[in-house]
Amino acid sequence: SGPATVSPTGQPTGADQARMAQSGSYLTNAQGTRLYDTDHSLKAGPRGPVLLQDHHLREKVMHFDHERIPERVVHARGAGAHGVFRSYGTAANVTKAAFLAEDVETPVFVRFSTVLGSRGSSDTVRDTRGFATKFYTSEGVFDLVGNNIPVFFIQDAIKFPDVIHAGKPHPDREIPQAQSAHDTFWDFVTLHTEATHHTLWNMSDRGIPRSYRTMEGFGVHTFRLVNAEGGTTLVKFHWKPKLGVHSLVWEEAQIINGVDPDFHRRDLYDAIEAGAYPQWEFGIQTFPDTPDQTFEGIDLLDPTNIVPEELAPVQPIGLLTLDRNPSNFFAETEQVAFHVGHLVPGIDITDDPLLAGRLFSYLDTQITRLGGPNFPQIPINRPHSPVNDMLRDGFHQTAVHRGVAPYRPNSLDGGCPFTPGADLEGAYVETPVRVPEATKVRDAPESFQDHFSQPRRFWLSMSPPEREHIIGAYTFELAKCYEQAIRERALKVLANIDPELCEGVAAGLGLPAPAPTVPLADVEPSPALSQVGQTWPTD
Ligand code: HEM
Repeated sequence: SGPATVSPTGQPTGADQARMAQSGSYLTNAQGTRLYDTDHSLKAGPRGPVLLQDHHLREKVMHFDHERIPERVVHARGAGAHGVFRSYGTAANVTKAAFLAEDVETPVFVRFSTVLGSRGSSDTVRDTRGFATKFYTSEGVFDLVGNNIPVFFIQDAIKFPDVIHAGKPHPDREIPQAQSAHDTFWDFVTLHTEATHHTLWNMSDRGIPRSYRTMEGFGVHTFRLVNAEGGTTLVKFHWKPKLGVHSLVWEEAQIINGVDPDFHRRDLYDAIEAGAYPQWEFGIQTFPDTPDQTFEGIDLLDPTNIVPEELAPVQPIGLLTLDRNPSNFFAETEQVAFHVGHLVPGIDITDDPLLAGRLFSYLDTQITRLGGPNFPQIPINRPHSPVNDMLRDGFHQTAVHRGVAPYRPNSLDGGCPFTPGADLEGAYVETPVRVPEATKVRDAPESFQDHFSQPRRFWLSMSPPEREHIIGAYTFELAKCYEQAIRERALKVLANIDPELCEGVAAGLGLPAPAPTVPLADVEPSPALSQVGQTWPTD
């Protein structure tokens, strides 16, 4: 089959490596020694004891004993697909990222997921969905690790362990496996009212998508784009499904959970096999990079906020097509490692405190999940651009590094001159953002304190059937709580969103509807938030 393709570190890559893992016409052990029987242990006579010297038996069972790796601590249940991203070039004025220049095609791998369920949980539960995209660009890997809901439960990553502890099954009963219907979840989201907006989206039809192919995706945080002249623009990233946004109704979701718990996974796989390649348009909302980082009074560093599309339209910048299924779920979908810190020149971060914690967490968790620090060498994680790093050794090191001087500059490995700061062309250079002179505090800004205006806007944007579904969802989920005090507290939160919502849920629960404790926000609906009017295509 000709010479193998090798990486800059001298290792076979991609298909060549896979071929090497499984070649030849006869069965061997892991060392390549031919086997004549893999069905019988070596015994002292056909009915005698099994012999310890059977190293094939030991190798086979020992390997099997270690086949499982820890599932992701969140987003454990997922499905992935390969594809291609073609950029329109319409973002070239705001970013120098090479993969966003006109007509550039970039290979991608996308993984969709639920958040709370374990690896074997069912697909059509009420939950947020992950929408993580790995772009293998010519300048390195860029990961957009987003969700199908544009806001998050918390404003500061220090609360992430808490919200996930509250959302995961109860520590004593280990129930429920994958749904929000339990006391700890509702206890958390009613005590931490910044979670109100995300919870409302979860209780809406967005919490039970019809298909991964009909979900929107959001980068959630505000990012900073940098163009060739060094000019900066604040942006929010969006994925818009070509098929429109569609959901299940609750009763459908319940039936499907029983009939086909793999419904979303199967749907994605079958669509791609049938050539019905799902597509999303990539888009950005852009905002001037002002010192206060707000837009129309909305704090862009608060990840519980959206910016209504009527105020900042989503501008299309490229097209994603998923056209190839993974050939090995473990090697690709399970071993893929996304990280918000995988950035390319032209895309930078902001001071969103939720994003700051994520920048630490992904790399850290993957060291455990993928068995040490060398998981970037796993084929699905390898950049498609050259890698020339100074990272060495460690568990599962598969590269045979050359040279003796893994430091720069050095005078031993053929010179390899490197003067810090001298070669900026093509390099990832952090944007020189001014950090305000400040006193060290453990605190949130005043602009993070309004927890109800944005949920109210969402509610007011819903059509009558969507409102009915939301009331039904809150009623069902809260009815499952054991603690009456939690139900009552939840109604107090809903009263601060809208009386119709609060009264509807209160009636369903057989409780009195409380009065609001803050004045109802004076906000306009945002029609783009409603799913009404979105239909399946006819072509
Ligand atoms: C996994 C999205 C906040 C920690 C994921 C995945 C997605 C995601 C899509 C699954 C990636 C995959 O398919 O492999 C988000 C979004 C967030 C958010 C949109 C908020 C805007 C956070 C925060 C933390 C965190 C605040 C921690 C401080 C993790 C961890 C994983 C994960 C540990 C598992 C990663 C792995 O094992 O590879 N997140 N997340 N996330 N997230 Fe987040």
